[in-house]
Amino acid sequence: MFDFTGKTALLTGAGRGIGRAIALGLAKGGANLILCDINEEALKATGAEAAAYGVRVKTVCLDVADEPAVRAAVAAAIAEFGRVQILINNAGIYPPRNFLESTSADWKRMIDINILGTMYASHAVLPNMLENGYGRIVNIGSVAGHYGLSWFVDYSMTKGAVIAFTRALAKAVTPKGVTVNCVSPGSIDVTGDEHMTEFSFVGRSGTPEECANVVLFLASDEASYVSGQEYLVDGCRRLM
Ligand SMILES: NC(=O)c1ccc[n+]([C@@H]2O[C@H](COP(=O)([O-])OP(=O)(O)OC[C@H]3O[C@@H](n4cnc5c(N)ncnc54)[C@H](O)[C@@H]3O)[C@@H](O)[C@H]2O)c1
Repeated sequence: MFDFTGKTALLTGAGRGIGRAIALGLAKGGANLILCDINEEALKATGAEAAAYGVRVKTVCLDVADEPAVRAAVAAAIAEFGRVQILINNAGIYPPRNFLESTSADWKRMIDINILGTMYASHAVLPNMLENGYGRIVNIGSVAGHYGLSWFVDYSMTKGAVIAFTRALAKAVTPKGVTVNCVSPGSIDVTGDEHMTEFSFVGRSGTPEECANVVLFLASDEASYVSGQEYLVDGCRRLM
């Protein structure tokens, strides 16, 4: 377990799945949290679970594609906690679809959430991190962005952008004490009923906690010499 005592972390998509597991891992390590999600009910449930670890938790119901809302959440977090040391850009959507049957409205919504949402939060939080000479940004990519998946063409594009954003931003801010890394999950069972044996040499889907573990490492002080990297958490992927 990593020690996040005295740290404040802002996390998007905290309501369920991988985001919920990250939220609980950060809370267990002692981080104060600003949890964001578009789903208020799920957000409140994660918030209550996290608060049970005795940390301060603020929940903000927002759409990460709403730039003013994201900027307001970051400003409120800084006003309340003084600093934000950790940002986890986890919120994302991944509807499988035939590219030729998808529309530009579909692509735009996905770009707004998966790419621009990540950029808005990073852009809003970075001045505070740079001012303090310390920060950890962890973006959630995907094997789709790494390899390209045929039923996730537009999704693959957005996650490829997140991976490239990670590499480029790291070069800009690492000299000032802010590391930027990306975790690209493979098949993670967020519903508890996905038993995908064929996609990995491990022979099963991963759990949200197994994915969160790598995110927590990258968010910790222990990852001080790691920046600009993409970590695949895919159980050694079998099919592309
Ligand atoms: N589960 C997997 O197998 C897998 C694989 C590769 C990548 N990922 C990525 O991991 C991240 C988390 O995925 P998950 O599987 O936990 O998903 P999930 O659908 O279980 O949870 C996503 C959470 O994000 C929230 N969210 C969605 N759109 C939002 C928006 N516009 N603004 C704010 N919150 C929003 C949802 O309400 C939900 O609580 C995503 O970026 C996803 O692309 C997941």
